[in-house]
Amino acid sequence: MEAPESYVKEDRSPDSEDVFRREFKRYKAKDPAPKLDEVIDFETSRDRKIIPVQIDPKNITDHESLARLGLLHPSEWRVFGLEGLLGFLFILNPWRRGCQRYWVTRCLRDYPCKPNVTNLDKLQHGVDNVWKEGYPEYRKYRLQQGKKTQPKTLLHKLRWTTLGYHYDWDKKEYHQDRYTQFPTDLAQLSTHVAQTLGFPHYKAQSAIVNYYGLDSQLGGHVDHQELDYSKPIISFSFGQTAIFLLGGKTKSVQPTAMFLRNGDIMVMSGDTRLAYHGVPKILKPPMAGQLPEGLCEEGGEEGVHESMLPGGMEESWEQSALFMEECRINITVRQVVAEGKGFGKRSCDDELQTEPKRTKESQYSTGS
Ligand code: OGA
Ligand code: MN
Repeated sequence: MEAPESYVKEDRSPDSEDVFRREFKRYKAKDPAPKLDEVIDFETSRDRKIIPVQIDPKNITDHESLARLGLLHPSEWRVFGLEGLLGFLFILNPWRRGCQRYWVTRCLRDYPCKPNVTNLDKLQHGVDNVWKEGYPEYRKYRLQQGKKTQPKTLLHKLRWTTLGYHYDWDKKEYHQDRYTQFPTDLAQLSTHVAQTLGFPHYKAQSAIVNYYGLDSQLGGHVDHQELDYSKPIISFSFGQTAIFLLGGKTKSVQPTAMFLRNGDIMVMSGDTRLAYHGVPKILKPPMAGQLPEGLCEEGGEEGVHESMLPGGMEESWEQSALFMEECRINITVRQVVAEGKGFGKRSCDDELQTEPKRTKESQYSTGS
């Protein structure tokens, strides 16, 4: 059954009040394609709604670890907020040269492997290592492009991987027993980024890695199944550029559109922790097959984790690069339970629909 289009079951408001969906449709449209002049671009930072944010030097406790994870010294980060969206933070591509490749390769080659959970588990049995099993066929497909009638390959069908506490899309909840070890590198990255932005004691307990093709979207939703809303959602973007919509607590709030590009990091906390958001569009690269600049750079700076240096990744990078020509990756990290507290059910569970509608091909459908 595919997730219904409406996000709130009891909502009887006329469509005209669903401003979020109206904007989503507008940005998703192909013909005519929407004007993008209202989309906030933190790279040029021209919009008057953009507020520069200073990192409190007291929060910079371990810049060496950040460097090993591939990040610039926080004093070099360009951090922004947006007027009227308290708790939203945007860090414009704070990566050291060449270091994004490491994370992209982890998301493609390693994170989708068992025991982690992927959307392919529902569709197909026995995919333990989708990259290893699917890449040769994918490559063949890409090299023969032009013959559009060819069916898409297994790797095209990879839409998401979950890590740590695996969200149950049927029961719409996390469960303490649906857990596999959270990757140490991603946990370190998330806690260090959180600490630097003023969120100490952050526990990266659950993540979804989303893989978007150039025609994919992620419908408007709220991430509200976690049990500790005081902890931020941290989102990492790699690959092709997305248009991201960030609304308010209801769908009647006019969402703000912004570009999320390769390397950008985004945080939703405070007022925006429970805001509607979604991805109506992935932008095609200016030239077919073009990789974002940051992924064309080779690493090799001092202090970076050994595996981030070219030697550790070089061989597989060529493969990742071909895939990223037509892909955007998002890693959304969440703290699910409050420190010292266990699992429990929230009273608002029945009111909100949590499963975001994911297109295209809706590999998200939950059977039946
Ligand atoms: C999510 C999400 C946003 C993105 O996975 O919950 O909101 O930028 N992802 O892909
Ligand atoms: Mn979300």
